[in-house]
Amino acid sequence: MQKKKRMWKRKLVIFRKLLNYVFAVNVIAFVTLLCMHVHVHVPSTDITINLCKHNDFSYQRLSGERILTQELATPQLSKAPFTASKNWTVEDLWKSPPNKDYVHCVAPSSLYTSPPESRGYLLVHANGGLNQMRAGICDMVAVARIINATLVIPELDKGSLWKDSSNFSDVFDEDYFINSLANDVRIVKKLPKELASATKVVKHFRSWSGVDYYEKEIASMWDEYKVIRAAKSDSRLANNNLPPDIQKLRCRACYQALRFAPPIEAIGKLLVDRMRHYGPYIALHLRYEKDMLAFSGCTHDVSPKEADELRAIRESIPWWKVKDINPVVQRAKGYCPLTPREAGLFLSAVGFTSNTRIYIAAGEIYGGDSHMSDLQSRYPLLLNKEKLASDEELEPFRKHASQLAAIDYIVSVESNVFIPSYSGNMARAVEGHRRFLGHRKTISPDRKALVRLFNKIELGTMKEGRELSNRVIAIHRGRQGSPRNRKGPTSGIKPMDRFRSEEAFYVNSLPDCLCQRELSYTNDSHAIV
Ligand SMILES: *[C@@H]1O[C@H](CO)[C@@H](O)[C@H](O)[C@H]1NC(C)=O
Ligand SMILES: *[C@@H]1O[C@H](CO)[C@@H](O)[C@H](O)[C@H]1NC(C)=O
Ligand SMILES: *[C@@H]1O[C@H](CO)[C@@H](O)[C@H](O)[C@H]1NC(C)=O
Ligand SMILES: *[C@@H]1O[C@H](CO)[C@@H](O)[C@H](O)[C@H]1NC(C)=O
Repeated sequence: MQKKKRMWKRKLVIFRKLLNYVFAVNVIAFVTLLCMHVHVHVPSTDITINLCKHNDFSYQRLSGERILTQELATPQLSKAPFTASKNWTVEDLWKSPPNKDYVHCVAPSSLYTSPPESRGYLLVHANGGLNQMRAGICDMVAVARIINATLVIPELDKGSLWKDSSNFSDVFDEDYFINSLANDVRIVKKLPKELASATKVVKHFRSWSGVDYYEKEIASMWDEYKVIRAAKSDSRLANNNLPPDIQKLRCRACYQALRFAPPIEAIGKLLVDRMRHYGPYIALHLRYEKDMLAFSGCTHDVSPKEADELRAIRESIPWWKVKDINPVVQRAKGYCPLTPREAGLFLSAVGFTSNTRIYIAAGEIYGGDSHMSDLQSRYPLLLNKEKLASDEELEPFRKHASQLAAIDYIVSVESNVFIPSYSGNMARAVEGHRRFLGHRKTISPDRKALVRLFNKIELGTMKEGRELSNRVIAIHRGRQGSPRNRKGPTSGIKPMDRFRSEEAFYVNSLPDCLCQRELSYTNDSHAIV
């Protein structure tokens, strides 16, 4: 009874929140497209609010839950505001691209052995935010294998911008990680006591290094030291030209061994279930957070006062080297995250109807509601972890940026369509993971091209509607996460920039970890489970 009551209370909270958005927005814009019945169950009464047609509320007794489910389900079946070009129907919008029978292939080759005798211990300081640390940890598994090291569970970054005190086991399932990789690398939780006082060599591994560097330069340090400490973990291993077994190991580490800690997986699953309850959903990674805007110098759609605040933050952070940024030039080059308003324009142009349910994966949106109102009125069903979960459910994670980011990661990987507003670490990690899981749809906005179109709209030389839609769809036809080989470096640039210009290994692990399977079982068209 107690439990049932709590469940109702939770539902009530969610419905109340849903109602709040409904009131908070420009109702006329969407009410004609959306009828919503909200069932409110309190001990003594049983009412359903039918939120239909303008502000006309009727209260009636109905078995509410069913209606809510029906009304909000399957947005893919409702009509687009206008007909998108014939060959990209509303139904296509929700479909993953053809996966051309690529499936993951990460089993080691027949030459692969269990880990050779350990020559010493590798300590790792994982640096950056959650997604940068994740990739770095997976690379360090491969490095430990290359140099025959025993890997000590990495330390997570506590000094980054995100100031999170979480340890590895707070974020990841430590035992699962160790056991899953038992045939690859020896992993221990702590440096053995007898080595605690041993002399350690602290080394900044060279960025984007290949096997030669680790086998020669780094492994030669075993002659003198029992303990090597990697001062940083990000981008220490080359994307390309590594032995196939090392590439596959990176994938096994990242996509199989490195799970989130059980409490994070549990709440992630809970939120995914709540999102899916009413049908398919988009995860929109809205990288419209203070640090991002301050760092990038992007001030489109912000007030002069906010622009000053962002500049002041940028100037106060010593390790952000570029201080003087022209926001107009920056945006024109496609270097700015889409603003929430632009993200809404984009979603509409692509053809998503206003009853589409969108999970906003993000930290705190800069300026809060003031910058969200346009997107909110286009898409009233905007949800996020705070709206989907109760305060009590979120409480254990609240003070830990990397754990909150992990929750968004899970809901994003499991979404029907993932759309990043910026190509940062999170966007790239999620895109890569979705490719690995069977080329789940990721629509990557071409920000440079979009800015040109959005500028025309702002100048009034183009209108929202069919013309914009056709242009946007044409631009994004090839940007939906379908199978293709990882992109190599841009030609004709300096060596270090060359590596930087490559598509990162964890964005697209094809061909190393994804192979085209035999035609015999082509029947299984990709489904999201
Ligand atoms: C889609 O339609 C456009 C014109 O509407 C046409 O140019 C294009 O070739 C079509 N693409 C495919 C794959 O059919
Ligand atoms: C690691 O161990 C294997 C097997 O004993 C050996 O062939 C290889 O040279 C070792 N590599 C390093 C860097 O020590
Ligand atoms: C992380 O581990 C350290 C050392 O074991 C401990 O002092 C600290 O409290 C842990 N942090 C959290 C958030 O549990
Ligand atoms: C496809 O496979 C499923 C089982 O996975 C089977 O039930 C179905 O009949 C198959 N369809 C065709 C067209 O072979």
